[in-house]
Amino acid sequence: MQLCAPLTVEDHGLQPVPDASPAKWHLAHTTWFFETFLLSEYLKDYRPFHPAFRSLFNSYYNAVGDRPLRALRHILSRPGLDDVHAYREHVNDAMVQFLSLDLGPEVLDLVVLGINHEQQHQELIVTDVKNGLWANPLRPAYRQTLEARDATSGAAHSSQLEWRSFGEGVYAVGCEGEGFMFDNEGPRHDVYLGPFRLASRLATNAEYLEFMRDGGYSKAELWLSDGWDCIHSNQWTAPLYWEQRDGEWRSYTVEGVKPLDLNEPVCHVSYYEADAFARWASARLPTEFEWEVAARPSAVAGNLLETGALHPRAVESAEPLAQLFGDVWEWTGSAYLPYPNFKPATGAVGEYNGKFMCNQMVLRGGSCATPQSHIRATYRNFFPPHARWQFMGIRLANGD
Ligand SMILES: [Fe+2]
Repeated sequence: MQLCAPLTVEDHGLQPVPDASPAKWHLAHTTWFFETFLLSEYLKDYRPFHPAFRSLFNSYYNAVGDRPLRALRHILSRPGLDDVHAYREHVNDAMVQFLSLDLGPEVLDLVVLGINHEQQHQELIVTDVKNGLWANPLRPAYRQTLEARDATSGAAHSSQLEWRSFGEGVYAVGCEGEGFMFDNEGPRHDVYLGPFRLASRLATNAEYLEFMRDGGYSKAELWLSDGWDCIHSNQWTAPLYWEQRDGEWRSYTVEGVKPLDLNEPVCHVSYYEADAFARWASARLPTEFEWEVAARPSAVAGNLLETGALHPRAVESAEPLAQLFGDVWEWTGSAYLPYPNFKPATGAVGEYNGKFMCNQMVLRGGSCATPQSHIRATYRNFFPPHARWQFMGIRLANGD
């Protein structure tokens, strides 16, 4: 609700592309999750707010039944925003009552899943609203410029890129018995890694501009075949939200269009662009396991949702590995696949992750729109390789 506070009623209905859902839909769907998987199942005498909402705000759960086409979520002008707010209130009140009962561990696990689900949609509200407002030729800002942002961002220069080395070995990866995890983070298992090096920080706008000025988008030898087709059919010649005015590059941010800050991490690139950039730089993207092994000792801290910046920031300090958490999701070279002996969660929520394990790549580390308590070293995000409307960026890797 706080993230939606800067929006007009009309803004709540924006769906510029099928991938991006209207904010009103996010508000309703996260509520639907609690109503459908908890209250309707486990709270005696619970009366649903509206019987039609069970299918209306279903995202992709075949076990729950039919739902409107994802690309047409913007047609749901009814229920209106006030009704959706009333729906949230109804379900929130029932959840408070529900949580005062003596609930078994399986039910409590579902509550925690519902909270983590809502956190994922918090991030989506930011990225989807950003995309919807940008699609308007007026390029309206999502919110006012924060005074604090100017004081804490905009490092005068980015730290020198250095390479951190990791030895070969058999490493345990994945999550097990360490608090909440999504089913796709386990089982924990061993992987062999050869010696590798990771960049000490994210790739910057300056470095990406160098790639562009070197003809990166017109050198077929740098691109995967699908990527080459993708940049041509979409006429991509720069990251999403970049525009050139009077010879100067600018980019659209949650605060409107701003001059491109060369020291900031490059953001809103597809897997294809990340992969081509890495090849141009005589490097590659890390595998998801290299990233996890490198990140595991680090505390989860960084430019996450709570900083309020909602934009990646430059780093000046030469920490061992800067920007692991927050700023941008880091594309890895790993296909999104099940770990050995993966078992989806039981029940309808088994559809949460497992059925998407095809044609997507893994991203790690969270972004400036990810809640801090949501992310961890074993967390596996996934998107198709052409996606770039999330806060997605690049950390280079190399063999040793
Ligand atoms: Fe969802």
